[in-house]
Amino acid sequence: MNLFWRWGRRVKKWDDRLVARSVIFLLVTSTVIGIWLVWRQNLFIDAPVISKIATVCLFDVMLLVVVYGVMRRQRWYWEDLCNRQELARMLIDNMWYGSDARSNGRGDQDLITYVPHLYFWRRYSITDFPRLYYKRKKGRIYITVKITMGKYQDSLLKLDSKVETGLDCELIASSYKHKWQHYTFLCDVQSSRIQLTEMKCYDGKMPLMRHLKWAYEEHPHALIVGETGSGKTYALMSFIEAVAKSGADLVVIDAKNADLSGLAGYLPEVYFGSADIKEQVIKFYEDMLGRMESMKRCADYEPGRNYRVFGFQARFMIFDEYVAYLSMLQKKEAEEVISYLQKIVLLGRQAGFFVILSCQRPDAKYLPDGVRDQFGLRIALGAMTDSGYTMMFGTTEKRFITKDIKGRGYVGLWDGVITEFYAPYVPPDHHFRESIGAAYAGAHAGGTSGKLFPASAESVASPAPRAVGDKAQRGQGEA
Ligand SMILES: Nc1ncnc2c1ncn2[C@@H]1O[C@H](COP(=O)(O)OP(=O)(O)OP(=O)(O)O)[C@@H](O)[C@H]1O
Ligand SMILES: [Mg+2]
Repeated sequence: MNLFWRWGRRVKKWDDRLVARSVIFLLVTSTVIGIWLVWRQNLFIDAPVISKIATVCLFDVMLLVVVYGVMRRQRWYWEDLCNRQELARMLIDNMWYGSDARSNGRGDQDLITYVPHLYFWRRYSITDFPRLYYKRKKGRIYITVKITMGKYQDSLLKLDSKVETGLDCELIASSYKHKWQHYTFLCDVQSSRIQLTEMKCYDGKMPLMRHLKWAYEEHPHALIVGETGSGKTYALMSFIEAVAKSGADLVVIDAKNADLSGLAGYLPEVYFGSADIKEQVIKFYEDMLGRMESMKRCADYEPGRNYRVFGFQARFMIFDEYVAYLSMLQKKEAEEVISYLQKIVLLGRQAGFFVILSCQRPDAKYLPDGVRDQFGLRIALGAMTDSGYTMMFGTTEKRFITKDIKGRGYVGLWDGVITEFYAPYVPPDHHFRESIGAAYAGAHAGGTSGKLFPASAESVASPAPRAVGDKAQRGQGEA
């Protein structure tokens, strides 16, 4: 009984005809009630038998119409019936059960093979049907299955791809505990998309969708990959706006000298010249080492505590078109940048130094395994090739579908779950530069808005400019 409430309804071996059974049950019940009313309660005493039968039939039809009306309003109830039926069929069609190999009396032939056409006999022969529970709550489907050591248990540990396609939902979490495998699926992922304004960091977490928060202090660093026009820069801008609101420090790097470079003048540290970028990556690394030293010097220093405990701010390096930048460098220089990046990615978490990279292709040359595996959040936007998905998420049985929606793709989470993703929606009339400038100013200068850091004519025109305010900012977080 406890299981019934906690994990929902058990899917049984008879549930492969659940919908038909429910309709038949309804008809039989209504017919019995109809007959009872007409005959036992002596309604229409003098009416001929035919009209009594017609009355019972009418009663049946009325009841079905009422039930249909209720079902249309309570859409989920109907869908749950269908889903439980689909799950039962999945178990039966794949023969994920133990069956009774009783003799049929004419040799030792299995009952199932002997009478394959008899539905009831086949179901009775099933002796060990998996304990699988189904529950729906707040747009999520929870499936819990008992793991024993039977021959089909491996399949039950990897139900996600079958359920995702069969029930049209997306796995968002899975865990194994005390011999039970728990799956959580989201039914309508797109309805979980948030607006840009809802993207506010707090307590080391950044909301990305209604059901999804990026806990950047626990799973640091993000990688955003996607073909041109898939929404990488918009996603990066959204991250910048959220980070700016939180009062964290930002180093913005735009290797293409395109959209993000337009933030110069609105943020103190925006870089887009090739030489300047390398210098800034090295500086970011050195600042991180400096922060580590500063933390150790704190009176209340305790190993294992993170930067926030000692009153430091998070510091983010947002790097657009990372691979394009590295491909412009000489091999040696590129390797040098990669090695700095690798160190930041490996050591940055505790000191509060986080990296968010974007590129069009996750090239193994520029994102070696040692670096790529350290990204707590991996987002693949738009359509990608199979090899691209493998590069991003490792070998996976996930079926990736392409939809023509900007900012849509897949996200790979720290627990290995890969799920559909919609970047926070940016309304067409949103002005990133002004809102980011105002958010940063609000968090750092007590509410001043507008152009806080006017880019000088020189910084805009020069091929390797350094944004105004750089020096003032340098070391500010470490003071
Ligand atoms: N989250 C979103 N909300 C609303 N519109 C979006 C979103 N993401 C992308 N778009 C739309 O898609 C367009 C292209 O997005 P974006 O410039 O971010 O692509 P990109 O991947 O950076 O392309 P490129 O590789 O060429 O720089 C935007 O101009 C915008 O109209
Ligand atoms: Mg872009």
